Amino acid sequence: MDRAIIVDGLVKNFEVTEKQPGLTGAFRSFLSPKKKIVRALKGISFAVQPGELIGFIGPNGAGKTTTLKTLSGLLYPTEGFVSVLEFDPWKRNPEFLKQISLVMGQKNQLWWDLPAIETFELNRAIYDIPVRSYNQNLNELIELLDTGEILNTPVRKLSLGQRMKMELTAALLHKPKVLFLDEPTIGLDIVAQQKIRDFIYDYNIKYGATILLTSHNMDDLINLARRVVIVNNGYILYDGPFEELISKFAKEKLIKARLSNEDNISDLEKIGKIKKLSFPEVIISVPRTTAPVAASELLQNFPIDDLTIEEIPIEEIIRKAFKNEPEK
Ligand SMILES: Nc1ncnc2c1ncn2[C@@H]1O[C@H](COP(=O)(O)OP(=O)(O)O)[C@@H](O)[C@H]1O
Ligand SMILES: [Mg+2]
Repeated sequence: MDRAIIVDGLVKNFEVTEKQPGLTGAFRSFLSPKKKIVRALKGISFAVQPGELIGFIGPNGAGKTTTLKTLSGLLYPTEGFVSVLEFDPWKRNPEFLKQISLVMGQKNQLWWDLPAIETFELNRAIYDIPVRSYNQNLNELIELLDTGEILNTPVRKLSLGQRMKMELTAALLHKPKVLFLDEPTIGLDIVAQQKIRDFIYDYNIKYGATILLTSHNMDDLINLARRVVIVNNGYILYDGPFEELISKFAKEKLIKARLSNEDNISDLEKIGKIKKLSFPEVIISVPRTTAPVAASELLQNFPIDDLTIEEIPIEEIIRKAFKNEPEK
């Protein structure tokens, strides 16, 4: 098999009933519901080689989750062709389900009041994993994610980051060949985000799993995905090397800092282009290559409490670089 995933001309429409305002409106909607079509995916095509790790990036509402749900067989395509490991996902063939996993950052699959290990045991039964490989996989995952200490803690008592580690463990016990991760770092603090990213990177290399990961934030993909697909408004705007995207369209980085007082505040513009200044927050845009120098100048010459260097928002890249692309 030379392609793990094939998507050709995928269209996904949702039919929704439009709510009308007020009580009479609600009554009217009930009597004669007004239907509206939401065009979530407007014909997207791409293919993924086995073992590839691809970042799907785009603003909220772009169609990322819809794509992943369709690929995992939770949604039926309105039009177009989809194949994952040569299966039609929608058929939810048990052989297919044993080889994939979908993890959603905003959804909890673990039993809330029980320790995660109980969910793992349940998954062992559901996926019919032989005890020996279950133990081996579990031990490997515990080691990779450093979760030995918290296996027996009720899930509700875990931090968000710890919970995501457990979600990943639950999703990987059956060693899926294809892994769909929908915003796996959403809501996590920076340290936890980095741990999850490192894990995904290592897991991809170690097991050769095909991984499709979504995010609305470019920082999530740095040093992780070599290939990136930008989705916006149901279309694919870009599909290519992450490096190329960065060097062509993200020539600047943002320094976000918190000032402890207003001394020298008017000199801030010597550092770079001021995007926002409302004391104590300042956001300065600087060329990518000189960002570290600019940051250290800032730290040396201004009263800085806190500082981060970030990628520009994906919305801004889309606005600047792809403004001539089709809309609606
Ligand atoms: N079940 C649904 N019913 C109606 N509209 C939906 C449904 N799921 C998603 N949508 C709409 O489809 C579009 C794409 O959503 P989604 O795939 O969740 O975007 P993303 O994950 O990129 O934020 C949005 O306009 C969203 O409101
Ligand atoms: Mg989403």
